[in-house]
Amino acid sequence: MAHWLTTPHWSSDIPLDTPHSRLDALKGAGFVRLRDLEDPVPESEYLPLEYMDWKSGGDTNFAPIATADGELDCRGFWKPGHEQPDKGGRFTVNADRCPRSKAYVEAVGADFGRVRVIKLEPQPYEAALLQIHRDDNNRFNPDDQGWVVRSWLELTDNPDSFMILMEHGDDGLPIRETEVHVPLHRGSQFVVDTQRLWHVVCHTGSAPRYALISSFESGPPLERWIESQTAA
Ligand SMILES: [Fe+2]
Repeated sequence: MAHWLTTPHWSSDIPLDTPHSRLDALKGAGFVRLRDLEDPVPESEYLPLEYMDWKSGGDTNFAPIATADGELDCRGFWKPGHEQPDKGGRFTVNADRCPRSKAYVEAVGADFGRVRVIKLEPQPYEAALLQIHRDDNNRFNPDDQGWVVRSWLELTDNPDSFMILMEHGDDGLPIRETEVHVPLHRGSQFVVDTQRLWHVVCHTGSAPRYALISSFESGPPLERWIESQTAA
């Protein structure tokens, strides 16, 4: 059966094998589900934020909470002439409006880069598949440092929506047979190597889905945090 994507695809050539240090927790499946956040983040933390029109993985808007320079800018980290890896994030004015999300990111203890709330409009499965992609998280990240990965915390309750994950194939496209789904109920938390795995969200709801997405550098602090969130 023909693949639903064609090459060349912009994700195909994003580096996969590099010397960066990786987390053991992600080496197998490329993602790890954490236990659900017990105490839901209130709507007052994410609905009043300042959102910007920025398309990634569907009809999306993003509220930047940390950026390269603290300005409200979705592109931030790769400004021409001021390139920096997706680390060393600085909080924006939005961070003052979401103290719990800010504290959540700081409590991880790892170097973080961009931190954003995503607002995703409903997106059926077939439409989502056309938006599947890999992230370029490690551009400008020195080889001797930790691989940048991403964490999700689901803010809205969409138990029938899910993130689609697939491994990268030799043809430069996602491998359908490796497809797995991560559920997106409120409080669902997970960490994904989004440079390794193709990913996109199928959102079956009738209202926007919100989630906190953070870039973190792999290393002992992130490893400890993941362990603390997976232990029984
Ligand atoms: Fe992505």
